[in-house]
Amino acid sequence: MASLPDTSKSFKIERHNSYLLRRINSAKILNASSHLLFRASILATVVLILLFTLHYPPLLLSGSASGSSAAAHSNHRSLLASSAVSYGGAAWEREVRRSATPHRPSGFTVLVTGAAGFVGTHCSLALKKRGDGVVGLDNFNSYYDPSLKRARQALLARHGVLVLEADINDAALLAKLFDVVPFTHVLHLAAQAGVRYAMRNPQSYVASNVAGLVALFEVAAKHADPQPAIVWASSSSVYGLNTETPFSELHRTDRPASLYAATKKAGEAIAHTYNHIYGLSITGLRFFTVYGPWGRPDMAYFSFTNDILSGKPITLFRKHDGTAVQRDFTFIDDVVKGCLGALDTATPSTGSGGKKRAPAQLRVYNLGNTSPVPVAKMVGILENLLGKKANKKTVTLPQNGDVPYTHANVSLAESDFGYRPTIDLTTGLKKFVKWYVEYYGVKTGKHIDDKKKTEEEEGEAASA
Ligand SMILES: NC(=O)c1ccc[n+]([C@@H]2O[C@H](COP(=O)([O-])OP(=O)(O)OC[C@H]3O[C@@H](n4cnc5c(N)ncnc54)[C@H](O)[C@@H]3O)[C@@H](O)[C@H]2O)c1
Ligand SMILES: *[C@@H]1O[C@H](CO)[C@@H](O)[C@H](O)[C@H]1NC(C)=O
Repeated sequence: MASLPDTSKSFKIERHNSYLLRRINSAKILNASSHLLFRASILATVVLILLFTLHYPPLLLSGSASGSSAAAHSNHRSLLASSAVSYGGAAWEREVRRSATPHRPSGFTVLVTGAAGFVGTHCSLALKKRGDGVVGLDNFNSYYDPSLKRARQALLARHGVLVLEADINDAALLAKLFDVVPFTHVLHLAAQAGVRYAMRNPQSYVASNVAGLVALFEVAAKHADPQPAIVWASSSSVYGLNTETPFSELHRTDRPASLYAATKKAGEAIAHTYNHIYGLSITGLRFFTVYGPWGRPDMAYFSFTNDILSGKPITLFRKHDGTAVQRDFTFIDDVVKGCLGALDTATPSTGSGGKKRAPAQLRVYNLGNTSPVPVAKMVGILENLLGKKANKKTVTLPQNGDVPYTHANVSLAESDFGYRPTIDLTTGLKKFVKWYVEYYGVKTGKHIDDKKKTEEEEGEAASA
């Protein structure tokens, strides 16, 4: 029994010791965990810096000196995108070369910028189908639903066209691309489109339509060997407040009504400079309200279709004198023919060989339909095709950059490369609505032509 107090005493001492031990241990743990915390926060910082550089490479890049790091960023980005090919590596180069290889005698090798866009997708497909080699490039920005751009990219992939995810302002990537492939032509369609959005995000127009255009011209002029011939998209909006109709290439274009138009007009002036100094062969195409399958959701015919189906009201504009706003709606297939015609008749760039060299080609063409239609009539055609009435309201055209009237004179494009629009608005909208209901899987009040799908339409049936 005497051992009891002893036991309790030694127990107490033991408890005290173990208490001390635990204190020491927890101090150690605390120490260790603060080390861990320190390391973790360093790691987190590194990860954050990495993420930041991935998302904002232009902020951290200055000039071509940082080329390899730009390549590394895009490497990551293209890995994050659907293709599993790593940027700049042997596998990437093989993929790029495969996509760029023509499959017809003396076929072109074309870099298409904005290839995941509306016009870019159709042009890339048409070029590939006739045997040209095509490499696409697009930054997949979210100006409108990027899933539509991804669906177009997937469609192109099924036809053997690779679309790289990259920005035209990434000079290092462009230089690398021209090192891998001696492109004979560039079809430059990447741009910030849309007239009204310029009031909300003006800098995006400067970044893509001015800085991006210069970045592309720089690489084509100084780095590419041989220099490619360039065909690029200007816009009918350069006619701005011009009132002479139909719009001819000889008319005034010095009164743009929107920042979008101003950046396209600036592009035409910049094109003149690069043609003059560096002997680049450059053709500008002034598109007039292009529409069709795989179109742009921000454009009226497309958003009106959404709104008619969902019962949302749509707003139509009338001119200040009460007359209707009209557009020279041009079907995508006609525009594609015009783009290919311009590429086919483009002469090679001549380089900057001083006074001895022959002047390089510098051209501008209207690509329109030559028959303006009141926007209200366009809505009427849609109502018919969708079997549903629109909930319309009409207001006076606000000063938002839209012009009241467009009408193309295309006689120049006709005489130089046989451009002749063939699709009227009713026929074209029918093709658009057919694609729309298939793509979005919507039911309409109308039965839309359900003929057997041909190979041609395989892509059009693809749904997201
Ligand atoms: N559709 C029309 O009615 C129309 C009319 C006049 C002019 N245009 C011009 O035609 C061209 C094609 O138009 P669209 O209707 O196919 O438009 P779109 O927006 O569908 O296609 C443009 C593509 O370029 C990409 N892009 C934008 N900025 C980029 C950048 N900095 N780097 C890489 N990619 C970038 C976009 O992601 C988009 O996929 C544009 O230059 C546009 O301004 C179109
Ligand atoms: C269209 O433009 C051409 C010049 O390119 C001109 O000769 C012709 O008269 C114009 N047509 C109309 C209807 O204005």
